[in-house]
Amino acid sequence: MVMINLGIGRTDSAKKHGERTKRSLNLKNDEANHITLLGKSGYGKTTIMRGMIEEIYSSYSDAGIPPIIIVIERKVDTSKPKKVIEIYHEESKKSTEKYIYRKYGDGVWNYIGHYVNELENDTKLRYGLMGDFAIGFPNILGKYTKAGIDEYKTLLGRHGLSPAAYPARRFVFRPRRDIENIAFDNGPLTEVISSKLAYPDIPFDIIADMNNLGEQTRYFAVLKNIWDISKIRDPKEVLSIAESYEKPNSAPSQTYLRIDETMNRLKTDILFTDETKDSFLKQITNKKINILDFSQNSELDSYEECLLFKLVVQHAINVAIKYRIPVFFVVDEVQNFMKDSNGKWAIDKILREGRSLCINLICATQYTDNLPKDILIGSSHIGIMGKLASNTDTKTLEKLIPDFKDVVDFDEPGSLSEWEGMKRKLRFRGYFSYNKDFTEHIEYRQPQSL
Ligand SMILES: Nc1ncnc2c1ncn2[C@@H]1O[C@H](COP(=O)(O)OP(=O)(O)O)[C@@H](O)[C@H]1O
Ligand SMILES: [Mg+2]
Repeated sequence: MVMINLGIGRTDSAKKHGERTKRSLNLKNDEANHITLLGKSGYGKTTIMRGMIEEIYSSYSDAGIPPIIIVIERKVDTSKPKKVIEIYHEESKKSTEKYIYRKYGDGVWNYIGHYVNELENDTKLRYGLMGDFAIGFPNILGKYTKAGIDEYKTLLGRHGLSPAAYPARRFVFRPRRDIENIAFDNGPLTEVISSKLAYPDIPFDIIADMNNLGEQTRYFAVLKNIWDISKIRDPKEVLSIAESYEKPNSAPSQTYLRIDETMNRLKTDILFTDETKDSFLKQITNKKINILDFSQNSELDSYEECLLFKLVVQHAINVAIKYRIPVFFVVDEVQNFMKDSNGKWAIDKILREGRSLCINLICATQYTDNLPKDILIGSSHIGIMGKLASNTDTKTLEKLIPDFKDVVDFDEPGSLSEWEGMKRKLRFRGYFSYNKDFTEHIEYRQPQSL
């Protein structure tokens, strides 16, 4: 069992203003620990997931079982770099260097100075797109921002934490901008890889889809036969087999031409490589936090994202069987994967196989409405950030969590200003239901990274 710090809970859950105490969550090594986070947009789901990743990374590593953490990132957040610039100038103006160094750490602050300087002189618009999971960038925002509930403490200070960067390996697919620039935006401990899929890893489906190969055609049948049944995964070899089917001394057939065209596409697409050792699957590691960058940095359509996700899940299952390492998938906006059969396959697989292999799913979404019941039923723990997004969700959770009705209580604001104050206070706070059996109010642990 490994314990991670979850945040500050109440010793007496029945009391509205009871005494507060540090809470940890026990994660089991011999079964899955799926966690679902729910809550309206803007209340801190993504931020708190980052905190959980840091806890999992350090606690498991300290226990001598470094886990594989795979984060699926969907967005960049342009507001974070802007806030970093603001804070840098605010602090420099109003505080002494000595005070700033003590507050943020001199290494961190000097790095921030360098980052701000580069951003402000960035006439070519190379920077400013920071990932939702900039795990390699120290969170100076959390050290600057006052906790809504306690005017004397900052978000991080309330939890006794300081800004820190964690090592991350970021996988970008068909990069839309220079990988050095992506690395710079995501902090000093971020390594960026222009990721490739080796031919042997590519299932026929992806080739057929990429090239709009009609299922009823002859070239579809011939190519499927060579690629998937004979498992010939080398474009040159594929072509020579296709050639052997041709009639001698006659013009090349439609089938041959289409296969030729398809193989050329494979060779020119930078997503693919003939070097098996360069496959990004082989670069997934337990030494760093792995981030699959499905944000604007990568040029992928949603079908390809889901397929890559599926391949990574298949790979993780093999690794988990072979090396018995715990695996954590962190999937933000999980509903996005549910519309696609590969995405759904991947989530289902983690939910089911996870139990025996210790493959865990930590996911977040705004509504339960569009979520398959399997996710909530399969979740060991459910967290709520801020408020729930709809009454239907309240009803769903009441059915699932026996003590939900007794414990969970969302105040309704009486006026617009009350609503604004409440929103500030509720951010990063809410409820946590342990094993869907004990629910309490909690202020979630803040992330040290941005
Ligand atoms: N450490 C932090 N301190 C203050 N604000 C933050 C911090 N990290 C993120 N934010 C801001 O808080 C807001 C809500 O966070 P987010 O986690 O994105 O919510 P959600 O995922 O629930 O929509 C965002 O606007 C984000 O920029
Ligand atoms: Mg979010």
